[in-house]
Amino acid sequence: MIQFPQNFFWGAATSAYQVEGNNVNSDWWEWEKKLGLKETSGPACRHYELYKEDFDLARSLNHNCHRLSVEWSRVEPREGKFSSDELGHYKDVMRSLKERGIEPIVTLHHFSNPIWFAAKGGWNNKDAPGYFLRFAQKVVDALSDKVRFWVTINEPLVYVYHAYLLGAWPPQEKSFLKAQKVSNNFISAHVKAYKLIHAIYTQKALPPPFVSIAKNLQEFIPCINTFRNRCAATLRDRTFNYAFLNKLIRHKALDFIGVNYYTRSLVEAEGLSLRSLLLDVCKNNHSQLKKNSLGWDIYPEGLLHLLLKLRKYHLPVFILENGICTEDDTLRREFIYEHLKHIHLAIEKGAWVMGYVYWSLLDNYEWDKGYSPRFGLIQVDYATYKRTIRPSAIDFSQICKTARLINGTD
Ligand code: FCB
Repeated sequence: MIQFPQNFFWGAATSAYQVEGNNVNSDWWEWEKKLGLKETSGPACRHYELYKEDFDLARSLNHNCHRLSVEWSRVEPREGKFSSDELGHYKDVMRSLKERGIEPIVTLHHFSNPIWFAAKGGWNNKDAPGYFLRFAQKVVDALSDKVRFWVTINEPLVYVYHAYLLGAWPPQEKSFLKAQKVSNNFISAHVKAYKLIHAIYTQKALPPPFVSIAKNLQEFIPCINTFRNRCAATLRDRTFNYAFLNKLIRHKALDFIGVNYYTRSLVEAEGLSLRSLLLDVCKNNHSQLKKNSLGWDIYPEGLLHLLLKLRKYHLPVFILENGICTEDDTLRREFIYEHLKHIHLAIEKGAWVMGYVYWSLLDNYEWDKGYSPRFGLIQVDYATYKRTIRPSAIDFSQICKTARLINGTD
């Protein structure tokens, strides 16, 4: 039997664009139309209307925290024009969580941008941090009495990678220069928002907030143990995993470290160019590990290794996303169990972990991959919007209730 601390946070996450539905003022919405994607986000999970029912389910599953995002394109659909109705909606969302005894963890930017912001060059515009700050100020001001945990930006470097290096997400750029600029803008946006959020809480004499980002971390492993692959893996570990965090730490702009962890990455650098060293991955499907339905290796050991490395920062770590898309719910149960086991091992070795948030509460719109990946603790029928709690969610709810991990064989 494995015992977690009694004050541990347990919950699940969503993001606005992936579950709310009809975010018609977002750059993603426009992009889906432009590309003529077969699976567009459309009504998503209709969570915008059904959030109270969804939070009832989370409560029934013993979650004591819930991570969600505020959709910038709803709150500021036109430049500088803020919608009091939408701010009112999010106030109600936070109130609904609090009424159910669930601590909200609120993300301000989760991949989606207002169309007007994208039209100005999005995160590549030198004024991007300023636009973001104006939005952050409105939201934090409106929600500060109900929210203590803030995540300014979700997975900044995953966004940079897909949108500015791979060219897979809007605005589909492939430019190191722009990637660098966007990444710097994210740093500046976060640092400014960090200070702003703290200032708002001080001014309102509220207890201090906890502000961070959600940083995707991966263990980079040389596929074949060559010098070139080892160099590439080290380079990626430094640039992707730590460089961004180090800058925020130097600015003293993190109250905790938000971690999103899914998989490892097998590094196979074909050449010596920067592109090769930073981006090439093994294309042979020879990994022996079990995989999720998108082909990502399941590698809980990686989370242990990363948590041990994070000890050097002397900051609490909050796992803000960890999850699996699969049609096999037994595999989901095993995935959660194994990751929690490794988190606990890390805690025993001195890692300071304050909570675990599973991705996701609901099956949802998985960006450019559409609706087929099923990450949810709760299954969503996209024809009827009926929710069905999966058995793995029930198992997880026992862990949330007791803070104990009991294996079938224990
Ligand atoms: C993370 C994203 C989240 C979801 C999961 C599967 O990178 O933050 O929105 O797409 O992956």
